[in-house]
Amino acid sequence: MNKLMLIAIAIFGFAFAYFANAAVIKGGIVIPTYAEPCKRNDKNFSGCIKNTLQNLLPKFSNGIPELNISALDPFFLDEYLLHYDAGDISGKCLYKNVYTSGLMGVKITDVRSDVSDPDYFEMEIDFYFPKVISTGNYKAEGIIGNFPVQGKGIFNVTAFNVTGTTHLIGHGVEIDGEKHIKISDFRLKEQEIGDLKIFATNLINGNPELSQMALTFMNQFWRIFHQLMLPNIQEGFEKVGRPFINQLFLQIPYDQLLPPNRK
Ligand SMILES: *[C@@H]1O[C@H](CO)[C@@H](O)[C@H](O)[C@H]1NC(C)=O
Ligand SMILES: *[C@@H]1O[C@H](CO)[C@@H](O)[C@H](O)[C@H]1NC(C)=O
Ligand SMILES: *[C@@H]1O[C@H](CO)[C@@H](O)[C@H](O)[C@H]1NC(C)=O
Ligand SMILES: *[C@@H]1O[C@H](CO)[C@@H](O)[C@H](O)[C@H]1NC(C)=O
Repeated sequence: MNKLMLIAIAIFGFAFAYFANAAVIKGGIVIPTYAEPCKRNDKNFSGCIKNTLQNLLPKFSNGIPELNISALDPFFLDEYLLHYDAGDISGKCLYKNVYTSGLMGVKITDVRSDVSDPDYFEMEIDFYFPKVISTGNYKAEGIIGNFPVQGKGIFNVTAFNVTGTTHLIGHGVEIDGEKHIKISDFRLKEQEIGDLKIFATNLINGNPELSQMALTFMNQFWRIFHQLMLPNIQEGFEKVGRPFINQLFLQIPYDQLLPPNRK
Protein backbone atom coordinates (compact mmCIF):
# COMPACT_ATOMS: atom_id res chain seq x y z
CA MET A 1 0.00 0.00 0.00
CA ASN A 2 2.96 2.21 0.60
CA LYS A 3 3.42 2.49 -3.10
CA LEU A 4 0.32 4.60 -3.42
CA MET A 5 2.00 7.14 -1.30
CA LEU A 6 5.07 6.99 -3.46
CA ILE A 7 3.05 7.57 -6.55
CA ALA A 8 1.63 10.65 -5.00
CA ILE A 9 4.97 11.92 -3.87
CA ALA A 10 6.41 11.42 -7.25
CA ILE A 11 3.92 13.71 -8.86
CA PHE A 12 5.49 16.44 -6.85
CA GLY A 13 8.85 15.49 -8.09
CA PHE A 14 7.53 16.65 -11.40
CA ALA A 15 6.31 19.90 -10.02
CA PHE A 16 9.74 20.54 -8.55
CA ALA A 17 11.27 19.76 -11.85
CA TYR A 18 9.30 22.46 -13.49
CA PHE A 19 9.97 25.02 -10.82
CA ALA A 20 13.67 24.48 -11.11
CA ASN A 21 13.51 26.41 -14.30
CA ALA A 22 16.22 28.94 -14.95
CA ALA A 23 16.61 29.77 -11.32
CA VAL A 24 19.66 30.78 -9.32
CA ILE A 25 20.12 29.28 -5.89
CA LYS A 26 21.48 31.43 -3.12
CA GLY A 27 25.18 30.94 -3.00
CA GLY A 28 25.29 31.61 -6.70
CA ILE A 29 24.80 28.10 -8.07
CA VAL A 30 23.10 28.44 -11.41
CA ILE A 31 20.35 26.03 -12.25
CA PRO A 32 20.16 25.01 -15.91
CA THR A 33 17.41 26.60 -17.94
CA TYR A 34 14.82 24.06 -18.98
CA ALA A 35 12.07 26.36 -20.23
CA GLU A 36 10.49 29.75 -19.69
CA PRO A 37 8.96 29.92 -16.24
CA CYS A 38 5.23 30.64 -16.07
CA LYS A 39 4.42 34.16 -14.96
CA ARG A 40 2.10 34.61 -12.02
CA ASN A 41 0.02 37.29 -13.74
CA ASP A 42 -0.49 35.22 -16.87
CA LYS A 43 -4.26 34.99 -17.36
CA ASN A 44 -3.82 31.30 -18.00
CA PHE A 45 -1.20 30.63 -15.34
CA SER A 46 -2.67 27.24 -14.44
CA GLY A 47 -2.74 26.18 -18.08
CA CYS A 48 0.90 27.24 -18.41
CA ILE A 49 1.85 25.14 -15.38
CA LYS A 50 -0.06 22.18 -16.78
CA ASN A 51 1.75 22.34 -20.14
CA THR A 52 5.12 22.95 -18.61
CA LEU A 53 4.81 20.09 -16.15
CA GLN A 54 3.75 17.75 -18.91
CA ASN A 55 6.46 18.82 -21.36
CA LEU A 56 9.34 18.83 -18.92
CA LEU A 57 8.66 15.51 -17.28
CA PRO A 58 10.82 13.37 -19.55
CA LYS A 59 13.79 15.63 -18.84
CA PHE A 60 13.82 14.97 -15.13
CA SER A 61 13.85 11.23 -14.76
CA ASN A 62 17.42 11.47 -13.48
CA GLY A 63 16.68 14.17 -10.92
CA ILE A 64 18.13 17.66 -10.46
CA PRO A 65 21.62 17.41 -8.95
CA GLU A 66 21.87 21.20 -8.54
CA LEU A 67 18.93 21.05 -6.18
CA ASN A 68 19.89 17.79 -4.57
CA ILE A 69 16.72 16.24 -5.93
CA SER A 70 17.17 12.57 -6.69
CA ALA A 71 15.94 10.54 -9.64
CA LEU A 72 12.21 10.36 -10.17
CA ASP A 73 11.98 7.27 -12.35
CA PRO A 74 12.74 4.97 -10.74
CA PHE A 75 12.05 6.84 -7.55
CA PHE A 76 13.94 5.44 -4.57
CA LEU A 77 12.96 5.50 -0.91
CA ASP A 78 15.50 3.87 1.39
CA GLU A 79 13.21 3.38 4.34
CA TYR A 80 9.73 4.23 5.42
CA LEU A 81 7.72 3.26 8.48
CA LEU A 82 3.94 3.37 8.18
CA HIS A 83 1.52 2.86 11.07
CA TYR A 84 -1.92 1.53 10.31
CA ASP A 85 -4.94 1.91 12.50
CA ALA A 86 -8.14 1.23 10.66
CA GLY A 87 -10.41 -0.52 13.14
CA ASP A 88 -10.00 -4.22 12.44
CA ILE A 89 -6.58 -3.76 10.92
CA SER A 90 -3.81 -2.19 12.94
CA GLY A 91 -0.07 -2.44 13.11
CA LYS A 92 2.98 -1.14 11.41
CA CYS A 93 5.01 -1.86 8.35
CA LEU A 94 8.60 -0.93 7.64
CA TYR A 95 9.39 -0.63 3.93
CA LYS A 96 12.99 -0.70 2.77
CA ASN A 97 14.82 -0.16 -0.52
CA VAL A 98 11.67 0.69 -2.41
CA TYR A 99 11.99 1.44 -6.13
CA THR A 100 9.00 2.86 -7.96
CA SER A 101 8.91 3.04 -11.74
CA GLY A 102 6.41 4.21 -14.31
CA LEU A 103 6.18 7.70 -12.92
CA MET A 104 7.32 9.20 -16.21
CA GLY A 105 4.09 7.97 -17.77
CA VAL A 106 2.17 10.62 -15.86
CA LYS A 107 -0.48 12.79 -17.50
CA ILE A 108 -1.25 16.11 -15.88
CA THR A 109 -5.00 16.29 -16.38
CA ASP A 110 -5.73 19.64 -14.74
CA VAL A 111 -4.16 22.39 -12.64
CA ARG A 112 -5.97 24.97 -10.52
CA SER A 113 -4.16 27.70 -8.66
CA ASP A 114 -4.39 30.91 -6.69
CA VAL A 115 -1.27 33.07 -6.87
CA SER A 116 -2.97 36.47 -6.78
CA ASP A 117 -1.54 37.36 -3.36
CA PRO A 118 2.29 37.39 -3.40
CA ASP A 119 2.36 35.98 0.14
CA TYR A 120 -0.01 33.12 -0.50
CA PHE A 121 0.31 30.14 -2.80
CA GLU A 122 -2.32 27.53 -3.49
CA MET A 123 -2.37 24.89 -6.20
CA GLU A 124 -4.17 21.69 -7.05
CA ILE A 125 -2.79 19.25 -9.59
CA ASP A 126 -4.83 16.38 -11.02
CA PHE A 127 -2.77 13.49 -12.31
CA TYR A 128 -3.08 10.14 -14.02
CA PHE A 129 -0.64 7.24 -14.29
CA PRO A 130 -1.41 4.31 -16.60
CA LYS A 131 0.85 1.91 -14.68
CA VAL A 132 3.17 2.18 -11.72
CA ILE A 133 5.28 -0.59 -10.21
CA SER A 134 6.94 -0.63 -6.79
CA THR A 135 9.33 -3.26 -5.51
CA GLY A 136 11.19 -3.59 -2.23
CA ASN A 137 11.50 -5.27 1.13
CA TYR A 138 9.01 -5.05 3.95
CA LYS A 139 8.63 -6.06 7.58
CA ALA A 140 5.16 -5.94 9.07
CA GLU A 141 3.49 -6.74 12.33
CA GLY A 142 -0.05 -6.13 13.38
CA ILE A 143 -3.49 -7.45 14.10
CA ILE A 144 -6.26 -8.35 11.67
CA GLY A 145 -9.42 -8.85 13.66
CA ASN A 146 -8.15 -10.81 16.66
CA PHE A 147 -5.46 -12.47 14.65
CA PRO A 148 -1.87 -11.31 15.22
CA VAL A 149 0.24 -11.38 12.07
CA GLN A 150 3.90 -10.94 11.38
CA GLY A 151 5.66 -11.00 8.06
CA LYS A 152 8.97 -10.13 6.51
CA GLY A 153 9.98 -10.54 2.90
CA ILE A 154 9.99 -8.92 -0.50
CA PHE A 155 7.07 -7.35 -2.31
CA ASN A 156 6.07 -5.82 -5.58
CA VAL A 157 2.88 -3.96 -6.34
CA THR A 158 1.54 -2.89 -9.72
CA ALA A 159 -1.15 -0.23 -9.87
CA PHE A 160 -3.08 0.51 -13.06
CA ASN A 161 -4.99 3.64 -13.96
CA VAL A 162 -4.08 5.71 -10.94
CA THR A 163 -5.73 9.11 -10.67
CA GLY A 164 -5.53 11.66 -7.92
CA THR A 165 -5.26 15.26 -6.82
CA THR A 166 -2.51 16.91 -4.82
CA HIS A 167 -3.21 20.10 -2.93
CA LEU A 168 -0.53 22.58 -1.84
CA ILE A 169 -0.74 25.67 0.32
CA GLY A 170 2.22 27.94 1.01
CA HIS A 171 2.97 31.26 2.67
CA GLY A 172 5.65 33.89 2.13
CA VAL A 173 8.74 33.77 4.33
CA GLU A 174 11.90 35.88 4.23
CA ILE A 175 15.21 34.02 3.83
CA ASP A 176 18.42 36.04 3.54
CA GLY A 177 16.37 39.09 2.62
CA GLU A 178 14.49 37.35 -0.19
CA LYS A 179 10.90 36.22 -0.36
CA HIS A 180 10.38 32.48 -0.57
CA ILE A 181 7.24 30.40 -0.35
CA LYS A 182 7.20 27.83 2.40
CA ILE A 183 4.78 25.00 1.76
CA SER A 184 2.82 24.42 4.97
CA ASP A 185 0.16 22.14 3.62
CA PHE A 186 0.82 19.32 1.21
CA ARG A 187 -2.02 16.90 0.84
CA LEU A 188 -3.17 14.04 -1.30
CA LYS A 189 -6.78 15.04 -1.65
CA GLU A 190 -8.12 12.12 -3.58
CA GLN A 191 -6.81 8.98 -5.05
CA GLU A 192 -8.34 6.25 -7.12
CA ILE A 193 -6.92 3.11 -8.64
CA GLY A 194 -8.26 1.08 -11.55
CA ASP A 195 -6.61 -2.18 -10.59
CA LEU A 196 -3.94 -3.40 -8.21
CA LYS A 197 -1.78 -6.53 -8.28
CA ILE A 198 0.12 -7.37 -5.13
CA PHE A 199 2.93 -9.87 -4.75
CA ALA A 200 4.68 -10.51 -1.43
CA THR A 201 6.59 -13.35 0.16
CA ASN A 202 6.19 -14.59 3.71
CA LEU A 203 3.20 -12.46 4.71
CA ILE A 204 2.55 -14.84 7.59
CA ASN A 205 6.00 -15.50 8.95
CA GLY A 206 7.22 -19.05 8.36
CA ASN A 207 3.92 -20.33 6.98
CA PRO A 208 3.88 -20.58 3.17
CA GLU A 209 0.29 -21.87 2.97
CA LEU A 210 -1.16 -19.12 5.13
CA SER A 211 1.06 -16.58 3.39
CA GLN A 212 -0.38 -17.63 0.03
CA MET A 213 -3.91 -17.38 1.40
CA ALA A 214 -3.22 -13.93 2.82
CA LEU A 215 -1.84 -12.81 -0.53
CA THR A 216 -4.83 -14.15 -2.44
CA PHE A 217 -7.11 -12.41 0.07
CA MET A 218 -5.30 -9.08 -0.32
CA ASN A 219 -5.49 -9.26 -4.10
CA GLN A 220 -9.17 -10.08 -3.96
CA PHE A 221 -10.06 -7.32 -1.53
CA TRP A 222 -7.46 -4.70 -2.41
CA ARG A 223 -10.14 -2.05 -2.79
CA ILE A 224 -11.14 -2.45 0.83
CA PHE A 225 -7.52 -2.37 1.96
CA HIS A 226 -6.93 0.74 -0.10
CA GLN A 227 -9.92 2.47 1.47
CA LEU A 228 -8.83 1.51 4.97
CA MET A 229 -5.27 2.57 4.40
CA LEU A 230 -5.99 5.84 2.63
CA PRO A 231 -5.69 8.06 5.73
CA ASN A 232 -2.32 6.47 6.45
CA ILE A 233 -1.23 6.84 2.87
CA GLN A 234 -2.20 10.51 3.06
CA GLU A 235 -0.27 10.95 6.28
CA GLY A 236 2.80 9.38 4.74
CA PHE A 237 2.40 11.50 1.64
CA GLU A 238 2.51 14.67 3.73
CA LYS A 239 5.34 13.47 5.94
CA VAL A 240 7.67 12.58 3.09
CA GLY A 241 6.46 15.05 0.49
CA ARG A 242 6.35 18.35 2.36
CA PRO A 243 10.04 18.49 3.36
CA PHE A 244 10.90 17.26 -0.11
CA ILE A 245 9.06 20.06 -1.91
CA ASN A 246 10.29 22.67 0.55
CA GLN A 247 13.81 21.67 -0.37
CA LEU A 248 12.99 23.34 -3.67
CA PHE A 249 10.77 26.21 -2.53
CA LEU A 250 13.14 27.29 0.23
CA GLN A 251 16.17 27.21 -2.07
CA ILE A 252 14.81 29.34 -4.88
CA PRO A 253 13.40 32.82 -4.29
CA TYR A 254 9.75 33.02 -5.25
CA ASP A 255 10.24 35.70 -7.91
CA GLN A 256 12.67 33.41 -9.73
CA LEU A 257 10.64 30.28 -9.30
CA LEU A 258 7.48 31.91 -10.61
CA PRO A 259 8.13 35.47 -11.74
CA PRO A 260 5.33 37.94 -10.99
CA ASN A 261 5.24 39.61 -14.43
CA ARG A 262 5.08 38.75 -18.06
CA LYS A 263 8.28 39.86 -19.75
C1 LIG B 1 -5.11 27.51 -20.82
O1 LIG B 1 -4.04 26.62 -21.11
C2 LIG B 1 -4.46 25.29 -21.34
C3 LIG B 1 -3.23 24.44 -21.51
O2 LIG B 1 -2.42 24.96 -22.52
C4 LIG B 1 -5.35 25.24 -22.56
O3 LIG B 1 -5.78 23.91 -22.79
C5 LIG B 1 -6.55 26.13 -22.32
O4 LIG B 1 -7.35 26.17 -23.46
C6 LIG B 1 -6.11 27.54 -21.96
N1 LIG B 1 -7.28 28.34 -21.58
C7 LIG B 1 -7.48 29.56 -22.03
C8 LIG B 1 -8.68 30.26 -21.53
O5 LIG B 1 -6.72 30.09 -22.84
C1 LIG C 1 20.88 15.96 -0.22
O1 LIG C 1 19.78 15.15 0.14
C2 LIG C 1 20.12 14.05 0.94
C3 LIG C 1 18.89 13.20 1.11
O2 LIG C 1 17.77 13.99 1.36
C4 LIG C 1 20.69 14.55 2.26
O3 LIG C 1 21.05 13.45 3.07
C5 LIG C 1 21.89 15.43 1.98
O4 LIG C 1 22.36 15.99 3.19
C6 LIG C 1 21.54 16.54 1.02
N1 LIG C 1 22.72 17.27 0.65
C7 LIG C 1 22.73 18.60 0.54
C8 LIG C 1 24.01 19.20 0.09
O5 LIG C 1 21.75 19.29 0.79
C1 LIG D 1 6.83 -9.61 -8.69
O1 LIG D 1 7.66 -10.66 -8.17
C2 LIG D 1 7.34 -11.95 -8.69
C3 LIG D 1 8.19 -12.97 -8.00
O2 LIG D 1 9.53 -12.60 -8.02
C4 LIG D 1 7.57 -11.96 -10.18
O3 LIG D 1 7.18 -13.20 -10.72
C5 LIG D 1 6.75 -10.85 -10.84
O4 LIG D 1 7.08 -10.77 -12.20
C6 LIG D 1 7.05 -9.52 -10.17
N1 LIG D 1 6.15 -8.52 -10.75
C7 LIG D 1 6.60 -7.33 -11.11
C8 LIG D 1 5.57 -6.42 -11.65
O5 LIG D 1 7.77 -7.00 -11.00
C1 LIG E 1 -7.37 1.44 -17.60
O1 LIG E 1 -8.19 2.37 -18.26
C2 LIG E 1 -8.36 2.10 -19.61
C3 LIG E 1 -9.10 3.26 -20.25
O2 LIG E 1 -10.20 3.63 -19.46
C4 LIG E 1 -9.12 0.78 -19.77
O3 LIG E 1 -9.28 0.48 -21.13
C5 LIG E 1 -8.30 -0.31 -19.09
O4 LIG E 1 -9.02 -1.53 -19.12
C6 LIG E 1 -7.98 0.03 -17.67
N1 LIG E 1 -7.05 -0.96 -17.15
C7 LIG E 1 -7.20 -1.51 -15.96
C8 LIG E 1 -6.21 -2.56 -15.61
O5 LIG E 1 -8.09 -1.18 -15.18
